Order: sequence, then structure tokens, then C-alpha cells
Amino acid sequence: MRDSTNCDRIDTADVARAVAELRSGHVVALPTETVYGLAANALDTAAVARIFAAKGRPAENPIIVHVADIAMAQTCVREWPDLAQKLADAFWPGPLTLVLPKSERIPPMVTAGGDTVGIRCPKHPVFQAILQQCGFPLAAPSANLSGQISPTTAEHVRQSLGDRIPLIVDGGPAEIGIESTVLDLSVRPPVILRPGMIHEESLSAVTGSLRQKPTRAHGVLRSPGMLLTHYAPKAKVWILPGADWAELRDKAARERWLPDQVHVLSWSGLSAGMEGCRSCRMPSNPVAYAKALYSEFHRCDAEKARWIVVESVPNTTEWQGIADRLKRAAAEL
Ligand code: TXA
Ligand code: MG
Repeated sequence: MRDSTNCDRIDTADVARAVAELRSGHVVALPTETVYGLAANALDTAAVARIFAAKGRPAENPIIVHVADIAMAQTCVREWPDLAQKLADAFWPGPLTLVLPKSERIPPMVTAGGDTVGIRCPKHPVFQAILQQCGFPLAAPSANLSGQISPTTAEHVRQSLGDRIPLIVDGGPAEIGIESTVLDLSVRPPVILRPGMIHEESLSAVTGSLRQKPTRAHGVLRSPGMLLTHYAPKAKVWILPGADWAELRDKAARERWLPDQVHVLSWSGLSAGMEGCRSCRMPSNPVAYAKALYSEFHRCDAEKARWIVVESVPNTTEWQGIADRLKRAAAEL
């Protein structure tokens, strides 16, 4: 695997093939620093329709538009407020999506008929090179079948969409590991629609007051990605509060879990204390934890885990994005 941070190792043949496919209106899976994306020309409705078809994505779920720079972002939105400029200066290129009123250029299909568009300038050098050569913005949701966990390696994409798309560009394992923070700037004060590794405290240092969106919105759904059923592995996920291993043993006994089908993800370093289960030591630092999380979920699925027990994570701002994804993974329909 190539290192996603190593700009010297961009495969120019891969980049050229991807650009050719994208110019022809096809979809291509590309590495970003958060998770792999399934990209298509954001200005071409037929190309964007291919994203929805390949993923089995519901038409009411809007897609993030990726841009090479602020100048390209400005062509996608009706207005570019000072706050957007400040946030882009502070966090772009990087894992922050800004929701703003859309311009006429962006077809309604991209925004699911809505009036706003999510814009992000990705940092990954391969994605950047492709954006610059294309010269048009790229719509790209995560490159997985709808409802599955996002891919953080090219191999994850191959397993999920390999037979449905013409090209997967391998840019190494994703550096951040969970999806971008989505911040709605079309309302005052701005609202965090999806927490991520650019967290509330760093954002509010730039924006001043901020609000967090409750997970399940009543009435109009502002961000369908906020539905609890997103990002779930095949196994049943259970969040164990505070490394209470006695509680785990009780539940396992009560529900007759077979120990070798139980995978425990623990960051505190305490042993799971459950005979025969598979135990994985997660990093105790949130940045490294985020990078490892989806790979662990994919591995548990590949090893046919039936239950994934995840030790709850600290209730601090740095862990918010991770806590959000764990909650979704554990949510019951
Ligand atoms: O890190 C990421 O954001 C990755 C990479 C590929 O860039 N993309 C990603 O896309 O996670 P997706 O489609 O899996 O999630 C996009 C999220 C969804 O929750 C969607 O509802 C929300 O962004 N979103 C997109 N456009 C929006 C808009 N105009 N208003 C509100 N939410 C929007
Ligand atoms: Mg997704």
C-alpha cells in the first residue's frame, strides 16, 4: 500500500486514467484523506446519476462536492461569506465540508433537490491532482454500498463496489479514517450536521457560537447522513460503558454469545476478561483511533464476527466524531 501522505509516489498513469474516465462521465473511486470517495463530474447530471446507481443511494441523500481550491468553491455557491473564507483559510484543504446556498451550476440531483450544497476541498494529493486536471468539481460520497461502513482502503472499495465501477485508484490507507465534519453555514449560528476530526472547539475558535445538530432531526431532514442507520458493520455492535467487563460477561452469558464470534475493541488497555473472545487493542489517542476504526470494523466483518463490543470512548470534544460513528454503528433499526 502506498502512503497517502507521500506526494512523490502519485501514480501519474492512474491519475490520467481517472481523469479520462471522469471526463467521459463515468464514476471512479478515489482516495481522500478521510475515506475513499466515489467521484463523478458534479456538473453532469448523468454522471452523478451513476453514483446513485452504483451505491444504491437513496435519491434524497445529497452528495458533497469536492473542489480544488476556494476559487472553484466560489463557482458552486451563490454567496461566499466571510465566515466561509475564514474557515477555508483555517482548515482547507482538509476534512471540513461547508454547507452553503448552491449556485445554478450545481444540478439539483447533487443536492437532492435542496437549495444548499456541501463543499469540501480534500487534502489527498491524488484527489487534488485529479481535481486540478479535470478542472470541474467532483461530487463524491463515500465509496461503499449505501448503509455500509465507509472504505478506508482501496481493498475495502473493491470488496463493496468492485464489480460495479470501472476504476479504483489506490492512494494508500486513509489518513483521517472517518468522514469529514459537515458544518451548515446557511443558518446562524452555524450548525454541526456531522461531527468529525475537525471538532467543535477548533471550529468555534473561528466561528464563535455554534450549535450541534441532534442526531435524529424532527420535521425536515437537513442531513440524511444524520440518520442513525448509517455506517453499520454487518455484526451487531454493542457499546460497553466504561470498560465494565463484568457487564460484558453477564450479557454474553445471558444472550449465549459464542466467545469466538465476539470481537472486543478496547482502548483503555484493560483486558476484556472474557474467555475465548477476540480482543483488539485500539489506540488511546483519538487521532490514531479514528484512523484505525473502520479498518477494524471491516476486519471484524471479514472474520465473520457476530458481535462487536466497543469500549465507550471519552466524552471530550476530540472524541466527538468517533463517538458519533460508534453510536450509529450500534443503532438498532
Ligand atoms: O469525508 C467525507 O465527507 C467523504 C469523502 C469522500 O469526502 N464523503 C462522505 O460523503 O462522507 P457521504 O455522502 O457519505 O456523506 C455526506 C454527508 C451526508 O450526511 C449528507 O447528507 C451530507 O453530507 N450533506 C451533503 N450535502 C448536504 C447538504 N447540502 N446539506 C446538508 N447535508 C449535506
Ligand atoms: Mg457515506
